[in-house]
Amino acid sequence: MNLKLNITNKTAVVTGASRGIGKAISKGLFNKGSKLALISRNKEDLIKAKTEIRNDSEDIRIYPCDISNFEDVQNTFKKILADFESIDILVNNAGLNRDNLVLRLKEQDWDMVMDVNLKGCFNTVKAVTKLMVRNKSGKIINISSVIGQIGNAGQVNYSASKAGILGLTKSLAKELGSRNITVNAIAPGYIETDMTDNLSKDVKNKLYQYIPLNRFGTTDDITNLVLFLSSEKASYITGQVMNVDGGMVM
Ligand code: NAI
Repeated sequence: MNLKLNITNKTAVVTGASRGIGKAISKGLFNKGSKLALISRNKEDLIKAKTEIRNDSEDIRIYPCDISNFEDVQNTFKKILADFESIDILVNNAGLNRDNLVLRLKEQDWDMVMDVNLKGCFNTVKAVTKLMVRNKSGKIINISSVIGQIGNAGQVNYSASKAGILGLTKSLAKELGSRNITVNAIAPGYIETDMTDNLSKDVKNKLYQYIPLNRFGTTDDITNLVLFLSSEKASYITGQVMNVDGGMVM
C-alpha cells in the first residue's frame, strides 16, 4: 500500500486562510501540489499568509471576502473560477467565537457567530455545488469542533453553529454522493492557535485532564487529516465527522 498523498493540479479554496488552522491547511495543500485560493476578511493578513506559504507563486491567489455575506461570497467564487477554471476542494475553516453565558449573551453575538460559522458554510457551498455537480467530482471539508458535539457553558452560539455544521455536512453528503462529491467534517479539540492563546496556563492545565493525550493539538494535526480527505485515498469516505482531539471525546 502506498499512502503517499498526491493532490497535484487541483484547486483548493480555503476560508479563514490568513492564520491559525486555515493557514496551516493552505500550506499543507500547496506542498502537496494544490493550487490555492485563500479567503479571509483582511487583505493585508492574506498577503502575509501568501508570502509565508510561497510569495512568488502564480498558483496562490488571495481573495478578501466576508464569508457571512452571501453576495460577497458568490462574487468571490466567480472570480476564483475565472482565475483558476476549476474548484476541486473546498475547506470551510473560517470561524469565530463570541463567548458569554446565555444570560449575558447579546443577540448580535448570537447572530454574528451563526452568520460566520454556519451560514458562511452554506454561502460557499452554494457557490461551488453547481460546478462540482457538473464536474462529477469534488471534496468539501468543513471544520466543526468538539464543542458542537458536547456543548460548553458560555458557548451556546458557538456550539450551536458547530453542531449545525454537522447536520449540513451529513445532509450534503446524502445530496451530493451520487455525483462523486464527498462531504466530511473535522471536529478539532483544543488546538494551539490565536483562538486558544488567550487561555491562561491554569485553564490549560485543567483542560489537559480531559485530554487522554495530555496536550493541545497542533495545526499540523488538523492539516494531515484535511490532506487525506482531499486526496483520492479518501474517495469512499463521506458524511463523516472525524475528531482530532487527543481522545477528548470518545
Ligand atoms: P483563528 O481565529 O486563528 O482564525 C480564523 C480565521 O477565520 C482567520 O483567518 C479569520 O480572518 C477568518 N475569519 C473570521 N471571520 C471571517 C469572515 N467573516 N469572513 C472570512 N474570514 C473570516 O481561528 P483558528 O483557531 O485557526 O480556527 C479555525 C477554525 O477551527 C474555526 O472554524 C474554529 O472554530 C475551528 N476550531 C478551532 C479550535 C482551536 O482550538 N483553535 C478548536 C475547534 C475548532
